[in-house]
Amino acid sequence: MSSPTLKTKSSTFTQSNSFTSPKIKSSTKKMQVLDKVSVSSKANISGLNTGILSIVGNTPLVKLVNVFKNAHFQLFAKLEMFNPGGSVKDRPALNMLMNAFEKGDIQPGDTIIESSSGNLGIGLAQACAVLGLRFICVIDPKTTLPNINILKAYGAQVELVAEPDPVTGDFLPARIARVQSLLASIPNSFWSNQYANLNNARAHHQTMHEIVTALNGNLDYLFLAAGSCGTLRGCAEYIKSHNLNTKIIAVDAKGSVIFGDKRGKRLIPGHGAARVPELFQPGLQDEVIHVTDIDCILGCRHLLRTEAILAGGSSGAVISAIDKKRKEIPVGAICAAILCDRGERYLDTVYSETWVMDHFGDIG
Ligand SMILES: Cc1ncc(COP(=O)(O)O)c(C=O)c1O
Repeated sequence: MSSPTLKTKSSTFTQSNSFTSPKIKSSTKKMQVLDKVSVSSKANISGLNTGILSIVGNTPLVKLVNVFKNAHFQLFAKLEMFNPGGSVKDRPALNMLMNAFEKGDIQPGDTIIESSSGNLGIGLAQACAVLGLRFICVIDPKTTLPNINILKAYGAQVELVAEPDPVTGDFLPARIARVQSLLASIPNSFWSNQYANLNNARAHHQTMHEIVTALNGNLDYLFLAAGSCGTLRGCAEYIKSHNLNTKIIAVDAKGSVIFGDKRGKRLIPGHGAARVPELFQPGLQDEVIHVTDIDCILGCRHLLRTEAILAGGSSGAVISAIDKKRKEIPVGAICAAILCDRGERYLDTVYSETWVMDHFGDIG
């Protein structure tokens, strides 16, 4: 019997078993006991142990059996959408602020400034609202209306940079310039600077710890989307420091420059970057898979149809990347995928027939 397939312009999700895959070497080091990672141990700030910030992290890891039906490997999804702000970025938002408190760089009443068009801004807005900090989020016209409304609802001040940098034509340098001018003009202001802040990456020692603990140390492949490279760097550091044999497959957007691809137009936010983040280091990942916006959309729809998981664009990218890689995954391998955010914020884009048709035509 032939297996159902989801045809795409650039990829095909086959739902058949691949019997040609190599056998897995029992190489993953089994770890019985893992110490809990202390993300931010010293801060003694009210609002951390109770209330909404106390439930950042410890997201569920669920086994997916339908997205790749009869697959020769096991796949577990880390559902970061269960963070209270709706995404994986609640973790670094909280960790960067906690460490700034610990170092004495900030105190209640200060102003946090960040350039973000999405999840990190929302994570910071949420944390700042609890921790008594003012938050200014520098955005550009590509920021979606739902995200702007969420930021404002949390009490963030939204600063729109309307014009791109005149030299490069990119918004990123223009947004950074606005951050710098706000820092210069506002006393007691602090730039969390997610692209360079090691506490962004360190927040994901805990993410990795949760995944590895739930799987008793048995993890062959980790698929994750890269943007600031906080997740990539944090998970890679954890794997290295715990001597695990887990291979990291980084998923990037076609047109993003993180891993040396040619700069190009990208419409789906989350993964990908217009410049190489300071957090990036060569060799963090074992492999990179680039995916197009269409791949993301098809991956999201496939995940929704097969698992009833309404996830954001980069989750579709990760699912699409696993599909591209699946024939090379050894039989019996244990894989995990970090699914970064929930899909409601993408209803007007990824999940909108009209939007997809307007931008990509009929993708099937
Ligand atoms: C939806 C989504 N996916 C992936 C990423 C990339 O994660 P990181 O910044 O840790 O590389 C982000 C970052 O904002 C995101 O919001």
